[in-house]
Amino acid sequence: MSEESEKFDAAMTTWQEWQEAPWGRLRYTLAEANLMRHLDGPDGPDGPENGRALRVLDLAGGDGGDALRLAARGHHVTVVDYAPAMLAAAAERAAAGLSERMSCVRADVTALPADLAAGEFDVVLCHNLLQYVDDVPATLAGALAPLKDGGLLSLMAINRNSAPLNIAVREMDLKAALAALDNDRLATAMFDAELTLHTAEEIVPLLRDLGCLDVRHYGIRTFCDYITDDVRKYDKEYYDDLERLELATTARHPYPHTARLFQLTARKRAV
Ligand SMILES: C[S@@+](CC[C@H](N)C(=O)[O-])C[C@H]1O[C@@H](n2cnc3c(N)ncnc32)[C@H](O)[C@@H]1O
Repeated sequence: MSEESEKFDAAMTTWQEWQEAPWGRLRYTLAEANLMRHLDGPDGPDGPENGRALRVLDLAGGDGGDALRLAARGHHVTVVDYAPAMLAAAAERAAAGLSERMSCVRADVTALPADLAAGEFDVVLCHNLLQYVDDVPATLAGALAPLKDGGLLSLMAINRNSAPLNIAVREMDLKAALAALDNDRLATAMFDAELTLHTAEEIVPLLRDLGCLDVRHYGIRTFCDYITDDVRKYDKEYYDDLERLELATTARHPYPHTARLFQLTARKRAV
């Protein structure tokens, strides 16, 4: 567990800078907005506004970017991650008034402690883990196991469809874009890792095979990454316009198919 997790801990500063950047902020804002469609919205009258705090398990939750937002809404979140510095950062962020609603557990998500694996959670998040695992079906099954029947799973991963577009638009390297059409590997400097890229179109049938119902596909950063003027995104008015555009297109097909990341939500079927 330690060798692999060290790569994540070593990148803490870069990771935190990325989260504060406009594209990092958009990723968390959009994920939260999409979750709220199912937790507080007409699709799922489950939220604390309706009198019930949910039990949420955030698998590979890192330093709590998603967990803190849900805890701030009154839910009880357990963050599981194998990187100690990530978890320490999550706990430190929660200390500003959310400690009672957020707990952090150091564990490998492929070997969850028994009490969590049988946890009967209302919601399980599995955001940006799939690109690091070898066995995707086993990871999906492992993420569904701690959910109660009818509970909500939210998955997020880098969208392979976006890679050739990203290279063509941002690097203007058309040979590399052509090669990326048939390449599912991506080297990332941030965590010194080689990632495996997936598409929502591949993952949706796997979720259905595992018995999931009501699978929904959202796009995270449908426009942002194809606008090459990154400096402008720090301008408040421009950022606000970008956020509005992203919120308007996150569920508006065909935009999710080429977004930088995909987010899938699904309900676990009662067996
Ligand atoms: C890119 S970060 C994503 C963190 C968080 N889900 C988010 O999107 O903000 C990936 C996280 O996965 C964790 N991770 C990767 N493989 C893991 C495993 N097998 N068990 C537990 N944590 C893992 C890393 O430690 C890291 O914190």
